[in-house]
Amino acid sequence: MKKYYIKTFGCQMNVYDSHRIAGILDNMGMQEAAAAGQADLIIFNTCHIREKATEKLFSDLGRIHQIKQERAAAGKNTFIGVVGCVVQAEDEQIAKRAPFVDFALGPLTYHRLPKILENLFCCQGQTIIDTEFPAESKFDFLPENHSNSGCSFLAIQEGCNNFCTYCVVPYTRGIETSRPIKNVLAEARRLVNEGTLEINLLGQNVNSYHGEDEHGKERNLAYLLHRLNEIDGLQRIRYTTSYPADVTDDLIACHREIKKLMPYLHLPVQSGSDAVLKAMNRRHTAAQYLDIIARLKEANPDLGFSSDFIVGFPGETDKDFEKTLNLVDQVGFIQAFSFKYSRRPGTPAADMSGQIEEKIKKERLSILQDKLFSYQLKFNLASVGKTVPVLFETKGRHPKQLCGRTPYMQNLYAEADKNLLNKIIRVKIKNATTNALSGEIAE
Ligand code: SAH
Ligand code: SF4
Ligand code: F3S
Repeated sequence: MKKYYIKTFGCQMNVYDSHRIAGILDNMGMQEAAAAGQADLIIFNTCHIREKATEKLFSDLGRIHQIKQERAAAGKNTFIGVVGCVVQAEDEQIAKRAPFVDFALGPLTYHRLPKILENLFCCQGQTIIDTEFPAESKFDFLPENHSNSGCSFLAIQEGCNNFCTYCVVPYTRGIETSRPIKNVLAEARRLVNEGTLEINLLGQNVNSYHGEDEHGKERNLAYLLHRLNEIDGLQRIRYTTSYPADVTDDLIACHREIKKLMPYLHLPVQSGSDAVLKAMNRRHTAAQYLDIIARLKEANPDLGFSSDFIVGFPGETDKDFEKTLNLVDQVGFIQAFSFKYSRRPGTPAADMSGQIEEKIKKERLSILQDKLFSYQLKFNLASVGKTVPVLFETKGRHPKQLCGRTPYMQNLYAEADKNLLNKIIRVKIKNATTNALSGEIAE
């Protein structure tokens, strides 16, 4: 029996894709290997969002090449595949810099893996590269999604039409497509039957979802959330990542009406300066963003927000940056991801004048992160003493310890028997740091 090993970089969509690729390989009678060195097939699922990610891929591939050579010396074949967003953008680079790679597939063509592998296993040959934006949807060709976890991802939408001037995603994932309601519900029901309690709906721009219903009518995310809400046994629903300008009134209302919807929303704003937002081609101002937050809070006062920020975008002045700090003070995000602007070849911002020095980017990032972390810590400290439902997802670092998530996506560690894995258990929070909570089982 052949063994496979998949290493995943990048966002939750890539984690989901890797899970679906594992499904293809399981279906072909393969088995997951514990380490790359024991695998007949090694797959890297890659991310192109920032410069460092690509360089890291090539250095990791160098190490994998070594494994391939060591195994070859012991008379064993190793096949190496690269999939994901780097392939879509840098297929020629991969062929040039890593000719030992056997196949490279973009994020929209990995459903073609079975044929490619059958050929490879029988007759090897030249590197196969497939970066087509296919007419067919990969979801119609993948084997059914299975999960043995209490918490599952479910992709409902892929691609992005927003073309923020710094971002590669519209080029790597293509234009927006949505899966039909029927297929999403079937996948959700299957996951719940297999023990999933929480579903996290995924899309690069998830709230622009516009899938067809059973009668061919286009439906939005709010409609889909109401349909998912009807699934018995499903206890928690999340969705990510949302685009502020596409937050509709009926989606806001879902946060009042649907109790299964967790009180945490990731809503990237990127900057607090209207001049920078405009140069980024974001379809919202800072004031509009704050208004959306206010309306969401009105629908559910318990909502906590997280966001993404970019500092050092071309032309960003000290004044612009201050406006970002100001916006953070106004929202008080309970979690956030912040990045130095990374120049991506082929995107409009890469050619803009006013590129910011690395030193200034670094300074701004450190100031912003200090502020973001202080709000995160404040929120976590305010949780101490509360008893909250935690979905235990993994084993902790210590024996007898489990790690799970609170409704607010906080990581929580507790001493707990492993039979509580994949269950929702009430936990009394005892301690908090910026990144995690610890607590005691309360029931
Ligand atoms: N809407 C997407 C965003 C993907 S990229 C989603 O589904 O998550 C995640 C974040 O990376 C963005 O919100 C942005 O903050 C950051 N990012 C994207 N391109 C970047 C670049 N060129 N430099 C720095 N950060 C970037
Ligand atoms: Fe990229 Fe902007 Fe689309 Fe997000 S909304 S994926 S940042 S282009
Ligand atoms: Fe990276 Fe592609 Fe996700 S570029 S962030 S893996 S959509």
